[in-house]
Amino acid sequence: MVAVRCYAKINFVLDVLHKRPDGYHELAMVMQSVSLADTLHLKTTPAPGIILKTKKEITASHSENLIYKACQTLFSKYPQNQGVEVTLEKNIPLAAGLAGGSADCAGTLHGLNKLFQLGLSLAELTDLANTLGSDIAFCLRGGTALAEGRGDKITLLPPVPLSYGLLLKPPFPLSTASVYSAIPRSYTGERSQAKLESFQKGLPALSQDCLHNDLYTFAQTIKPQLSDYLNQIKKTGPTAYQMSGSGPTIFAFYSNRIQRDKAYQLLQKEEVYPIETVTKGFELLS
Ligand code: C5P
Repeated sequence: MVAVRCYAKINFVLDVLHKRPDGYHELAMVMQSVSLADTLHLKTTPAPGIILKTKKEITASHSENLIYKACQTLFSKYPQNQGVEVTLEKNIPLAAGLAGGSADCAGTLHGLNKLFQLGLSLAELTDLANTLGSDIAFCLRGGTALAEGRGDKITLLPPVPLSYGLLLKPPFPLSTASVYSAIPRSYTGERSQAKLESFQKGLPALSQDCLHNDLYTFAQTIKPQLSDYLNQIKKTGPTAYQMSGSGPTIFAFYSNRIQRDKAYQLLQKEEVYPIETVTKGFELLS
């Protein structure tokens, strides 16, 4: 039996540079793992096969689920005499811009590696991850990292100082594909070079001027209400706040834990999660 905690991610910087011939967008992103997490429990079954159990409703059918796909992909490359049963405790909201599915997928790959004692390296796990989605390579490592290409080329960055924040999840989902498809084909954008360099040097503290997200404008064309949620969080006095990924979740950080806890009280009517920055993407618990 193996248990894995899989951390959500947010984006401090998300620059969309241009659309690529393969249909994906070329990106430059600063990604950060945060303490909101799903937990996976994996155990072997006597016969080969994949059983996925989850208490909460998940939108995709089981065979479409990234946990299921991670098992399928790993078993097809590294066949086993036994199967696996995976139980998912879901806490990260779905279609929220927090890479919950990608985090579970990365956690599954690490969990299978341990459960079946495969001894696969991070590079071998990353090769599997990149066939499954763009954010999974980051989630295999986590912490603070620069992600380039379609999001799959990862360079670790100095960890940001431990910061206390909130995630505010507006009451509607946004699909990643729909936000990217709102970008005109001819769009070209620039790297936020100064912001990227400030993360490369190591930040003394998070501040509003180190954040940027090109996807906000496009997400807002689909859900104009996003600005109401951004304004609501702005009123709670954060030192830094922004939409994460393709949205709709908005994150905010505060000067200390007490300020964060006060803001948490103010936002109680909303779907809101207290978070901290963490220095890894997953944790093997047993
Ligand atoms: O790779 P992943 O399955 O997570 O991406 C979901 C969708 O987001 C893709 O099908 C694509 O429409 C869009 N996307 C993109 N450029 C990226 C990453 C994702 O256009 N770099």
